[in-house]
Amino acid sequence: MKTTKLRSLFNRRGLIEIVGAHDGLSAKLVERNGFDGIWASSLEISTSYAVPDANILTMSQYLERACEMNDAVSIPVIADCDTGYGNSNNVVHMVKKYETAGIAGVCIEDKQFPKVNSYIPGRQELASIPEFVGKIMAAKNAQENQDFMVIARVEALIAGWGMEEALKRAHTYIDAGADAILIHSKSSEPNEIFDFARRWQNRVPLIVVPTTYCKVTSKELEDIGVKMVIYANQGIRAAIRAMEGVFDEIKRTGTVGSVEEKITSMKQVFELQGMPQMKKAERVYLRAEKEKVAAFIPAAGDHIEEYSMKDVSSEIPIAMLDINGRPLLKRQLEVFNKAGISEICVIGGYKKEKIDMDGIKLISNPDYKTTGILNSVMRASEYMTGKTFIAYSDILFDYFILDQLLQSKEDITILLDSTFDSKNYGPKKRVDLVISDSKPINTRRRLRGSSTKEIKKIGLDIELKKAHYEFPGLMLLSSRGTEIFKDIYSRSAHDYRGKPFHSAPIFEKANLSDLIQEIINCGHKVNGIEINSGWLEIHSFEDYKLFAY
Ligand code: SPV
Ligand code: MG
Repeated sequence: MKTTKLRSLFNRRGLIEIVGAHDGLSAKLVERNGFDGIWASSLEISTSYAVPDANILTMSQYLERACEMNDAVSIPVIADCDTGYGNSNNVVHMVKKYETAGIAGVCIEDKQFPKVNSYIPGRQELASIPEFVGKIMAAKNAQENQDFMVIARVEALIAGWGMEEALKRAHTYIDAGADAILIHSKSSEPNEIFDFARRWQNRVPLIVVPTTYCKVTSKELEDIGVKMVIYANQGIRAAIRAMEGVFDEIKRTGTVGSVEEKITSMKQVFELQGMPQMKKAERVYLRAEKEKVAAFIPAAGDHIEEYSMKDVSSEIPIAMLDINGRPLLKRQLEVFNKAGISEICVIGGYKKEKIDMDGIKLISNPDYKTTGILNSVMRASEYMTGKTFIAYSDILFDYFILDQLLQSKEDITILLDSTFDSKNYGPKKRVDLVISDSKPINTRRRLRGSSTKEIKKIGLDIELKKAHYEFPGLMLLSSRGTEIFKDIYSRSAHDYRGKPFHSAPIFEKANLSDLIQEIINCGHKVNGIEINSGWLEIHSFEDYKLFAY
């Protein structure tokens, strides 16, 4: 409970420092900067509405803002409730509303309703002592939780009634049940407050607001016996100055470019909104009839030697290779988007900065020289929560291929190319080959052009003449399949770190197919969907020329 948190601040040693705020954002910034609590300031809230701090707003408007602040932070909020928005009847209603809303405490001041901000010269009319004592008693009797705090603010020094009146009022308010006294001063020096504090007998904690005597330090205040300090309005004053400066500069320069470096980034804005938490929750809770699929494209390797394409791809990753006017990756994205897949993680490494494309989340594998595709894929593992699609970055594929995979009801499904022909591969070419539970049925006519197989063996080191299929590097995992994939990866990472792993010399260099083999070895079923058209690899200059020339 926030009320208990506030009480324990008062019970702990040392000065409590709280800061004025006016909305959820400003309250969040107070909390992020390590302060103990929020002061839901009437001055800040009024200013943010651009109206005088003179009870122009209603209690509901102040309350709504206090709730907004309270929702945005985990530290307690003390609401500046002016004079209690009327007489003792209004105070009873006010305490009920604020306490129910989870506000930790309220502060009421002994001025007449409607009040005017304490720094405005002139009309600073004090309430009579009996009237204010009645309000404190009403407030204390209205609260239900004993930790809820009612702070009595003494305005005698502000109204020019002198030290003796201030002390008399403070003691009377304690007798009426006030939990703490806020002694307010508009003096430019702290002497008045020091005087009051010296004569204070510490019957309840003392609170001050050093707006005008601003040079005073927290150490001085603590030494003199002050328990809580309120930095009441520095936040909104800083915001006004900063906004004015930026607006002025934009108007003068005629561009927002000149202020871009001086202002908070959009990333930070989203962080303050809580967007990362929302996205995380979405991955767990946001369920649609059509299950969400995220796609992962490992595009970290340099592949130059392997692909005999030094001339065309030494300055860019293969994924960014121009294929008839659009990068290969863009073409993949278009197919994914057509299938309703919009969450796409690309793992970059070699020339990663060249992967500059809207609609992807770019994740980095800085160790791409010493690690393999599997390692790259798993750099994005925190985003693998539901149905997962994995596609190599050097292949082009048609929508119908994707669609066939997406219709699979199995946990782990890979694509199998039956047009694989050992005659096409020279001894040096390393491709993932597959042995399944039965041979391809190339001769038989089929309605959808596909059939389902169970994979027995997969990898780079399968003998050409024994292989049934080629694995083009397209794979779909159900939610459960994703869990299996991640689980077997982490177990393998533990058991095989630095050691050979299937066709890989060490685990870190493993291919996707190495983990698939491990999944099979662990007793899980891996299915294949057989196709004979609809995809093309960009493995060689010959492949590339098909499109580029
Ligand atoms: C407020 O912050 O609204 C206060 C403190 O009441 S002051 O404006 O300093 O009087
Ligand atoms: Mg105020």
